[in-house]
Amino acid sequence: MKEIIISPSILSADFANLERDIKNVENAGANWLHVDVMDGHFVPNITIGIPVVKSIKQVTNLPLDVHLMISNPEKYIADFASAGADILTFHYEAVKEENIIPIIEKIHSYGIKAGLSIKPKTEAEKILKYLDKLDLLLVMTVEPGFGGQKFMQDCAEKIKIIKQEASENLIIQVDGGINNTTGKICTNYGANSLVAGNYIYKSNNIQQAINSLR
Ligand code: DX5
Ligand code: ZN
Repeated sequence: MKEIIISPSILSADFANLERDIKNVENAGANWLHVDVMDGHFVPNITIGIPVVKSIKQVTNLPLDVHLMISNPEKYIADFASAGADILTFHYEAVKEENIIPIIEKIHSYGIKAGLSIKPKTEAEKILKYLDKLDLLLVMTVEPGFGGQKFMQDCAEKIKIIKQEASENLIIQVDGGINNTTGKICTNYGANSLVAGNYIYKSNNIQQAINSLR
């Protein structure tokens, strides 16, 4: 069995001590670092942008797993790629259907991984035709916008459909309300990457929290 890729979300970190909090998860065995980019338009919240990604890149060796919760993601691919994103995931709901493959190709042209994400109300069937073009498919198990929300079990069920259709190489990631219980539900369904913000950063033993997700 392949290893589960754990991607702690720095949305739950202390932004005044971001380097320290990144090192904490890096030293505790995290595989990737999940960076939530929000624009106040596609989602109601505003978080991190390109300059912060660039600075983070200087202080960590972890691959940067950048989750774009923004409108018009195609406009910013070059900037996020040169800022140091290693995986760039955009939302199905943020783009026109006919632009999905060109956006995936554009991301690939920078030599980085391309991900597509679906919100809770988007059916898995909508994205199956893109799976063979993608490196990663992200299933949201909360409405994107905020950390610390409750896991939506019915969204996780979509993983089963995706797993059935996907090749062995596709990374199936879940994000939202992940802890050691909900994470197991998702990995049993076929997910092999877990994003967790609150569960990791609000625990009093980060290493234990990360290990408990595996
Ligand atoms: C939510 C973000 C998540 C968030 C997860 O819109 O995409 O990555 O940080 O936080 P938790 O794990 O606390 O639900
Ligand atoms: Zn996220």
